[in-house]
Amino acid sequence: MLRGESLSAALPRLSAQHAWNAAQRGAAQALGFEALRGLGRARALLELLHPRRIKPALLEQLLLVAVALMSLPEPRPYADHTLVFEAVRACSTHVRTRAARGLVNALLRRLQAQRTALEAQVMQQPEARWNHPAWWIDALRAAWPDDWQHVLELAARVPPMSLRVNARWGSREHYAERLRTAGLSAVAPEEPGLEQALVLERALPVHQLPLFDQGAVSVQDLSAQLAAGLLHAQAGMRVLDACAAPGGKTAHILERADCELLALERDPDRAGRIADTLERLHLPQAEVRVADAAQPGTWWDGRPFDRILLDAPCSASGISRRHPDIRWLRRPGDIPALAAQQHALLEALWPLLRPGGRLVYATCSLFPAEGVEQAAGFLARHADALALVAPGQILPGRSPERDGFFYAVFAKRTDDPA
Ligand SMILES: C[S@@+](CC[C@H](N)C(=O)[O-])C[C@H]1O[C@@H](n2cnc3c(N)ncnc32)[C@H](O)[C@@H]1O
Repeated sequence: MLRGESLSAALPRLSAQHAWNAAQRGAAQALGFEALRGLGRARALLELLHPRRIKPALLEQLLLVAVALMSLPEPRPYADHTLVFEAVRACSTHVRTRAARGLVNALLRRLQAQRTALEAQVMQQPEARWNHPAWWIDALRAAWPDDWQHVLELAARVPPMSLRVNARWGSREHYAERLRTAGLSAVAPEEPGLEQALVLERALPVHQLPLFDQGAVSVQDLSAQLAAGLLHAQAGMRVLDACAAPGGKTAHILERADCELLALERDPDRAGRIADTLERLHLPQAEVRVADAAQPGTWWDGRPFDRILLDAPCSASGISRRHPDIRWLRRPGDIPALAAQQHALLEALWPLLRPGGRLVYATCSLFPAEGVEQAAGFLARHADALALVAPGQILPGRSPERDGFFYAVFAKRTDDPA
């Protein structure tokens, strides 16, 4: 991440490089996530503790991780003395100078002794208070004047783990019973569109979920589970899932109906995961193609679709608690660039929908440029488009808790609107 690499790319690379076992991988991931959730505060604290730039970069990174972990909200999962000891030990292994060890020890002990006063001081700075870049905080405040603080507070918490029970396997009541037998409990949300959803009381590794390998269940946030219901694909329909990998929503569509589904994905590595997902869930295979959905001339056979799902590439600002590196990797200019991609995808795909058909546009974003503004612009450009439900921004934090998401459902008119 500190080299601009995402955690999801860095962790497998480091794991392979150091031959980590599952427990080591889990521990590295947990430490990485905790440190990134508190990076804004850690940077501000480290600057107070040592106003001059710390070199080498590895030493600064090590200190940032230790400071972030030492300044987690109470109850803190790691004892101070353990963190100081481990940081000094890591320094001995990786930085290898006596001065560096001395510096780590001195700065962390000072943080321990003066933590309350130092934290009070840095909490005046928005990046430290909210652990997000200032431009991100400003954008959320402007978009959601009543909710931005709650949204940012939620981003500091570990997200809930939600499940989608495979409708071809059975009902969620049936699966909830299997969970109870395994000593696990879950809540069943009552809302329309979430009929197969369960929210676990505590998260656990997927392979510990009863019948996971046999395809009874998938892990999917509640907000993401709304897509298939909104798309409302029925048996025999020709459906396009335009940005499909890793196939969570593709699978959900096929769990609900036997349709003729084309799943497109631009990234060949990610595309490979779609077939794996469908196979685990014992679903009929979709036709998976590695292609750019914005260039139909390269992959479309000219037969219109009854349904199109465009789960577009976006800032992922609605799921930043699940990916706490994203906020630090994104730059303000990424948002207009992503909005331009979403616009191009919508324009390219709309002509492929048959009159009377339905296109669902979705992003896991909280920024209006990728949501309400994108949908309003689309409707203004297309007289033959009709919003079937009011385009809806989902903010994180409704009960039961869910990720931030945006959905718009457009129908193509059958009459001539002119
Ligand atoms: C939000 S993710 C899709 C998640 C997926 N629908 C699911 O539920 O599992 C967006 C995906 O679109 C892919 N993508 C981005 N631009 C694309 C394009 N122009 N054509 C096809 N796929 C694209 C990305 O590689 C990424 O895998």
